Amino acid sequence: MRLGVNLDHVATVRQARRSAEPDPVGAAVLAELGGADGITVHLREDRRHIQDRDLRLLRDVVRGRLNLEMAATPEMIEIALTVKPDQATLVPERREEITTEGGLDLGTDPAAVKRAVSALRHGGIFTALFIDPEPESVKAARKIEADAVEIHTGMYANARSEASISRELERVTHAARLAARLGLHVHAGHGLNYTNVDSIASIPEIEELNIGHAIVSRALFTGLTRAVREMKERIAAARSRPGA
Ligand code: PXP
Repeated sequence: MRLGVNLDHVATVRQARRSAEPDPVGAAVLAELGGADGITVHLREDRRHIQDRDLRLLRDVVRGRLNLEMAATPEMIEIALTVKPDQATLVPERREEITTEGGLDLGTDPAAVKRAVSALRHGGIFTALFIDPEPESVKAARKIEADAVEIHTGMYANARSEASISRELERVTHAARLAARLGLHVHAGHGLNYTNVDSIASIPEIEELNIGHAIVSRALFTGLTRAVREMKERIAAARSRPGA
């Protein structure tokens, strides 16, 4: 199973100061050294985290699979066809949302999504649709002729009682099975973390997981002790220099 590491929130920290660090491009190198099979970024219309420059540089630097999460808008399709990520994952996008809230609505205007998928595929880009774990959405994705679906695991991740966790897990499992049976590649993601990933990773039909927030959060904690120690050493060294 492939792991795509979503680096949006490295860019979120950078954009909080509109500065140069932390650079998601540097983070991509480290993530790949750690075993990431791919790097995932979401270039949003409002550019709240990942910037166009990041995507261009990532295209050069990433050695595994570069997966661009994007809305199916003319602007994003043009960018994708220029930068040529290995994979595009079409997601719904609303400015007010904190993060992607639900899967794509494939019922209202499937022809528009189909046009986007077809443009991307003609550009040689493997295209996935981010969908809720609903049989109807899986069937619609098949009709649209997407290469893959990414099953939204957010409802599973947010479930709290044993009963609702197992109900949501069932929905993801069934959607994955159906998608594979219909010939779609199966990915999953959103809200996965170090405690809830096991059950999803055990679903045999799922070929790729995209995980971001939990990994970037863990990296802060695993790296913070060392970062503070290094700053203390710098300060101490400056104080011990002659004339200090
Ligand atoms: N997959 C999709 C389609 C997403 O929109 C996101 C969030 O950007 C993720 C996966 C990763 O979610 P998380 O950051 O919760 O791991």
